[in-house]
Amino acid sequence: LVLVVDFGAQYAQLIARRVREARVYSEIVPHTMPVEEMLARRPKAIVLSGGPSSVYAEGAPSIDTSLFTAGVPVFGMCYGFQLMARGLGGEVSHTGAREYGRTPVSVGESGTLLAEIPAQHTVWMSHGDSVTAAPEGFTVLASTEVTPVAAFEDVARGLAGVQWHPEVLHTQHGQKVLEHFLHQIAGCRPTWTMVNIVEEQIERIRDQIGDSGRAICGLSGGVDSAVAAALVQRAIGDRLTCVFVDHGLLRKGEAEQVERDFVAATGVDLHVVDAEKRFLDALAGVSDPEQKRKIIGREFIRVFEAAEAEVLEKSAAEGDKVAFLVQGTLYPDVVESGGGAGTSNIKSHHNVGGLPEDLEFELVEPLRTLFKDEVRLVGEQLGLPAEIVWRHPFPGPGLAIRIIGAVDRERLDLLREADAIAREELTRAGLDRDIWQFPVVLLADVRSVGVQGDGRTYGHPVVLRPVTSEDAMTADWARLPYDVLEKISTRITNEVREVNRVTVDITSKPPGTIEWE
Ligand code: XMP
Repeated sequence: LVLVVDFGAQYAQLIARRVREARVYSEIVPHTMPVEEMLARRPKAIVLSGGPSSVYAEGAPSIDTSLFTAGVPVFGMCYGFQLMARGLGGEVSHTGAREYGRTPVSVGESGTLLAEIPAQHTVWMSHGDSVTAAPEGFTVLASTEVTPVAAFEDVARGLAGVQWHPEVLHTQHGQKVLEHFLHQIAGCRPTWTMVNIVEEQIERIRDQIGDSGRAICGLSGGVDSAVAAALVQRAIGDRLTCVFVDHGLLRKGEAEQVERDFVAATGVDLHVVDAEKRFLDALAGVSDPEQKRKIIGREFIRVFEAAEAEVLEKSAAEGDKVAFLVQGTLYPDVVESGGGAGTSNIKSHHNVGGLPEDLEFELVEPLRTLFKDEVRLVGEQLGLPAEIVWRHPFPGPGLAIRIIGAVDRERLDLLREADAIAREELTRAGLDRDIWQFPVVLLADVRSVGVQGDGRTYGHPVVLRPVTSEDAMTADWARLPYDVLEKISTRITNEVREVNRVTVDITSKPPGTIEWE
């Protein structure tokens, strides 16, 4: 275990991911955690992240210097580098010279940390203060035009640091620097692999659920719930029941991916609820986006709880009690909600089927230590279909919020066809993994004039909305190659009768959102 101490910048998650890419397991802890508590977790090494402040600013986050003498290797980056320098008697000064963005760095003596790294390379910097003298015992390894001490190490004590951000993509050789620290200086062995994750998680799930416990899991068609369910299935087999509510708002082929391919790949016990009619009836005539969301959310809870109740009743009849609810919570959600290890309980309200009003489940969250990219790799390791493992994010309300206007079966089918063509061509061009999401939107209440063959048409436009993003908070429109766009446009207008116009949305977020509703 490597602990990444978060000093409040946005980099800690990225650092934790890079440490794992070096095949060493890492977790993030806040800088406010007492040093004894960090050490009690017996980390093999500790990484101090960058931070927003100057070490001299009032109320600047700090760390007890006992950390540096505890015998655990420590690596400081940016702000963490300065804390280490200052904490061990070096000098950090306001030189007045700032460095932001791409900065050339010169490696002098390369030592262990910068071994085999070019003497001149470019790194990403973001700092106001500079280390002007390294603490005693340290070797200075690199400098920049304005920073005399840009990297140092004391291999005997397992301490090292760099002024730059090795975790960002713009830093050349960043991953190599991090790996030199982890593997050579700290002696961490690179054993964190997908095979290990899978085995470890299965073991944990078995411990938590026990020999006779039963669990239930809702599948959405997305990667997180699918991987969580597949792991639990491996651990407890038939004692897991999955519930899939088909609300009729999924894309073409997605319900089959869950009902057929996912089941074939995992052997999971699946309870499908075909609720299309119920959802479409409830949505009839509604075109307000928020109204659509409310209706779908409300119906979903009702249908899911009814299905859950059926499953519970069935297993109760067999003398078993379902006490566990599987959820696909990921590590970023855990970090952001300030949560740590351990599990939590939630209450689920049941007013169906004569069951007790409040039923308490214990949550099983086998992905709560994983990042999205790791979840996908685990999914591959478990043999899940690529369509599920590499699926783009998809909103819970589904295609209902991609039809501008009221939702009905006919419009859904139209959009499903257009959307399937767009996805197919994207896949054929090998671009699936380059973009974040690719909504296709049907302007169902708009008509425009066109000409096809000898006749005038009066059809609906669709909007292509391919975007790139890292976290959906901000996004940019994806510059898809013209020939791919052309292919999509030609095929949609030829193959989807009611659509005679294809447009591309070139708005970033902000000011636009990714979805149109
Ligand atoms: P926007 O459109 O706000 O979307 O830029 C950001 C991300 O969230 C997804 N999204 C939703 N997901 N229920 C969901 O589960 C919703 O109501 C919803 N609305 C938007 C969207 O697909 C994108 O990934």
